[in-house]
Amino acid sequence: MTAPASDTPRRPSVVLGVGGGIAAYKAAELLRRFTESGHDVTVVPTRAALHFVGAATWSALSGKPVSAEVWDDVADVPHVRLGQQADLVVVAPATADLLARAAVGLADDLLANVLLTARCPVVMAPAMHTEMWQHPATVANVAALRDRGIVVLDPAVGRLTGADTGPGRLPEPQAIYDACLSVLDRARRDPDLSGVRVVISAGGTREHLDPVRFLGNSSSGKQGYALATTAAARGASVVLVSANVSLPDPAGATVVRVTSAEELRQAVHAHAIGAEVVVMAAAVADFRPVDLATHKIKKKDTGGVPDPIALERTADVLAELVARRDAAGSDQVVVGFAAETGDPDATVLDHGRAKLVRKGCDLLVVNEVGAGKGFGTDDNEVVILGADGTEVLVARASKGAVADAVWDSVIARRSR
Ligand code: CTP
Repeated sequence: MTAPASDTPRRPSVVLGVGGGIAAYKAAELLRRFTESGHDVTVVPTRAALHFVGAATWSALSGKPVSAEVWDDVADVPHVRLGQQADLVVVAPATADLLARAAVGLADDLLANVLLTARCPVVMAPAMHTEMWQHPATVANVAALRDRGIVVLDPAVGRLTGADTGPGRLPEPQAIYDACLSVLDRARRDPDLSGVRVVISAGGTREHLDPVRFLGNSSSGKQGYALATTAAARGASVVLVSANVSLPDPAGATVVRVTSAEELRQAVHAHAIGAEVVVMAAAVADFRPVDLATHKIKKKDTGGVPDPIALERTADVLAELVARRDAAGSDQVVVGFAAETGDPDATVLDHGRAKLVRKGCDLLVVNEVGAGKGFGTDDNEVVILGADGTEVLVARASKGAVADAVWDSVIARRSR
């Protein structure tokens, strides 16, 4: 017996936009993944895409009529209905032309109309030659789309259509599919940080010796940026204090750029006033050169032998935040990070527990670094230590998933 229609959960409705690039054939694999996992997919190719893969293929694989035009089935108003009713629009491949049309807001074919009328999450998976991807026009279009909250995936690096290689390959269909599922999952969740003001520091500070040389560290900023992206997606109002990071601005975050530990300190303190949560994910220098030369230091200045570099302590921003919060008697949640290595006397967690007490923060996110772990990688494995004795192990996962786990712990701490 079949269940009554009202008991049958509605299948998530996906519009798969296909741009006119050679990678269009890979969208057939993406389509198959969606249909086999119970999604209701309508394929909307561009006219150019139909040169690469014909309408018959899309229609047969999706079980639906396929058109690139706004002039078919006019009575059904597909140019408005498709975008309005979709739970997700994914464009793969998103060509340079399609990114440009979407950024400007043109409505010159059915897919462009869908992108203008969609109120659901939109994911775009670019594919093009490296020169096109790196052209300032495309860079500006991608930035504009990301600013509007559209998820533009980074293209993969590898062999392109000809003999050339570089960034511009369509990400693997499985990677696009996984990104879409996490976007759909996020859209279904409550915005549980709605109305919460958070300040996040990310990256690594640089302490200059002269205009061209500095003492720095290898922090990529990926974990801090993932924290900003996920907090914004969960409804928070986010200020991201970014120290020397070369990643695209996270959608929905206000980015404040700094170079040195002192600049970071001032920016974090200024924005922490009135914030409910401050997360210190940046690798902040503990020492800086006492002297900053105004001109490049020349070998001849020191007779060809190196001068020792005199260093002085920088302020401990995290400790200052805790002291200020305590003095004000506020319930601001302060989160620290600790990248540790074990040694013969203590494990990574021993160091973490001692640091949590020493710093006095509410949560300390501890990870082991060294030997390919932590810095620059796309995933992370952490333990979130709470001042109340809680210890949450987050097994190896993407930095986005780790960021979500940190926000879950922040929310638990706020609702104590
Ligand atoms: N931190 C900070 N200001 C500094 C140094 C670190 O706010 N001058 C913050 C970091 O952003 C991080 C936490 O403190 O959230 C721990 O950083 P870490 O370098 O591990 O702390 P240290 O106190 O320098 O620890 P260690 O004794 O291991 O050098």
